[in-house]
Amino acid sequence: MSKITKVVFSVVGLGIRFLPATKASPKEMLPIVDKPLIQYAAEEAIAAGATELIFITGRNKRSIEDHFDNASELEASLEASGKKEMLEALKGILPSHVSCIFIRQPKALGLGHAVLCAKPVVGNASFGVILADDLIDANPPVMQQMNNVYARKQCSVLGVEDVLPLETASYGIVDAFEIEQNLLKLKSIVEKPKPADAPSTLAVVGRYILTPKIFDCLEKVKPGKGGEIQLTDGISDLMQYEDILAYRFAGKRYDCGSKLGFMKANVEYALKHSEIADDFASYLKSLKR
Ligand code: G1P
Repeated sequence: MSKITKVVFSVVGLGIRFLPATKASPKEMLPIVDKPLIQYAAEEAIAAGATELIFITGRNKRSIEDHFDNASELEASLEASGKKEMLEALKGILPSHVSCIFIRQPKALGLGHAVLCAKPVVGNASFGVILADDLIDANPPVMQQMNNVYARKQCSVLGVEDVLPLETASYGIVDAFEIEQNLLKLKSIVEKPKPADAPSTLAVVGRYILTPKIFDCLEKVKPGKGGEIQLTDGISDLMQYEDILAYRFAGKRYDCGSKLGFMKANVEYALKHSEIADDFASYLKSLKR
């Protein structure tokens, strides 16, 4: 059964929660130790088998394009100075069998609209969506786990996890029933309900596999929460036509759109980093004394 090979990255968000750091540079370029968030997202997509990375961009996002472009001058200089490891790290950002496509969202009309902007490139294929500020440490990577589910079921799959009841107003929340271990069938989905109105505490995090029918649905969707075209509303419409699954992934998520989540990710990734893990662990211990 077929798998997805196209992944869309919506990088249109303004990064308000990270101002002033994100005034002139995109939130997706914030580094976790030594790699920007968007690179972790791209690596996850590539590990899942993606060969086309489609970035929906907006104002102030040009450095993302530069990041995935080749930097021949920098490479030549690293080569000349014998910095082989750095050179490999740089060349490894984008393997040669993978291509990047950048589409500019003309107006900040919401996540649903950003995904709709990918329609001319995605065409009549199912595709993944990754929101880079949800960094998920998982083995195998979450998009790969979800692509395996897609290969078996050939329908839309949403990555979900339980959140605290007080947190429902930050997420798309699903009502679903279990059909297999960790796999549920959607009954409804609602964008950012207040805890009292939430059908459950099962939240969609920034991982989706969607069938191309979603584009028809998004074209019909009216502005929803916050006056934006919401992907959640498009998915709710899609339910009329097709089964949609929610997949409880295995992995640890860091909400890197929040300062606390971002710092947690940096500390935990540093504690696993081949270059600095031991020294950083000793440093943290010294702080506790
Ligand atoms: C978006 C979606 C929301 C989803 C969340 C995951 O919200 O609209 O349904 O649960 O991403 O991170 P945002 O965080 O962009 O406000």
